[in-house]
Amino acid sequence: MRISVIGCGYLGAVHAAAMADLGHTVVGVDVDEVKIAALSQARAPFFEPGLPEVLASAMASGRLRFTTDFAAVADADVHFVAVGTPQSSDGDAADLRFVDAAFESLLEQVSPGDVIVGKSTVPVGTASRLAGLVAQRVPGATLVWNPEFLREGFAVQDTVSPDRLVYGVPAGEAGVRAARILDEVYASAVGAGTPVIVTDYATAELVKVAANAFLATKISFINAMAEIAEVTGADVTRLADAIGHDARIGRRFLNAGVGFGGGCLPKDIRAFSARARELGRGESVRFLDEVDQINLRRRQRVVDLVREESGHLDGVKVAVLGLAFKPHSDDIRDSPALDIALRLADNGAIVTATDPEANPNTRKRAPHLTLVDTAADAVIDADIVILITEWPEFTALNPHEVGDLVSHKIIIDGRNALDPETWQTAGWRYRGLGR
Ligand code: UGA
Repeated sequence: MRISVIGCGYLGAVHAAAMADLGHTVVGVDVDEVKIAALSQARAPFFEPGLPEVLASAMASGRLRFTTDFAAVADADVHFVAVGTPQSSDGDAADLRFVDAAFESLLEQVSPGDVIVGKSTVPVGTASRLAGLVAQRVPGATLVWNPEFLREGFAVQDTVSPDRLVYGVPAGEAGVRAARILDEVYASAVGAGTPVIVTDYATAELVKVAANAFLATKISFINAMAEIAEVTGADVTRLADAIGHDARIGRRFLNAGVGFGGGCLPKDIRAFSARARELGRGESVRFLDEVDQINLRRRQRVVDLVREESGHLDGVKVAVLGLAFKPHSDDIRDSPALDIALRLADNGAIVTATDPEANPNTRKRAPHLTLVDTAADAVIDADIVILITEWPEFTALNPHEVGDLVSHKIIIDGRNALDPETWQTAGWRYRGLGR
């Protein structure tokens, strides 16, 4: 099929490359010239495992190209909109500026019979509004809302083999036809038996935010248990193992620690609350405000632990291991690690931080933070070491070797990712979160 992908960020670039690799002819469009220049040379503009390989093979096949010129999408029959919906600068709601701009430009190129596929995470009601715009501007074109559930770090795998496909379609023949076309786009996943849920716009939009709200709630639930464990001497990790054996609960997404960050979960729950308030149903999701608060408290808890261990923050040398919001990513959007590093530095601690992939992004965002290349460099003469992003190279650190480099053997394990006994046996004072 001939496909265009509007927006070549974490979602769109992967989607474009994966669709071309699956055999479709794809053009990726973005307004960011630097991003398009990199992608045009088959270089990924961000760190995502597997993406460079898929980009290279798709570019070599001749089926994938990238451009800043919107006119290029006119040749395509299916148009994916994958632009960002960040948090507004003045509140909790999603900023739809990029979505609206993408539709404006796109509708100038779309032909009757084309299918426009929204992938961006939007407040419920947006698809129906945009469908009105499509009907007015290009009668005969159809809008589908097809939310994306990929995880950064596994984006390629999640795009090629999603665990479900959701199509929000209009009623009637146009919706049936659009769903058939999407089945063709996703033929390999559909053929492999991936469940396909065909539904209306509002349900499709809500599936996406409900999924992220549920995941965020699960994490904050276990972090709330960590707060209770901290005052009772219980171990939240053992608690999670024990309740996780109940198949109705499940062990995944029950890792207590510094909580969730990234470009999705935090802003999606806030946007969901804001939208619910607009709809007069604020009370239905008021618990999400608490989910957010619990999450943010865990960041402060790490700062408080440093103060507890040192008596003060001023002049304390802290090594921060990890800056990305999670391992296998260079994404520092709403990253707990970066937030904690900055809170410590703002309060007088002497912070030396490192991340295998996120140093360049951090340098741009927080040029005043001292960054080094490796954990071994970061821990030299440290009074306290904090593990915040559980990269394998950090969790595999040898406590004896690290012990030889630091001033004081105190480690705060912000992800409960280390074995306390191993570190304690090597002479370290170990502080986990909720254990
Ligand atoms: C999340 C969802 O998992 C995806 O399904 C969704 O498509 C995506 O948002 C999106 O909306 O685009 P992602 O942001 O890549 O994906 O990251 P997650 O793997 O969900 O992790 C989010 C945060 O939760 C990370 O900071 C992670 O460290 C934290 N986390 C995760 C915990 O604190 N504890 C856990 O047990 C699991």
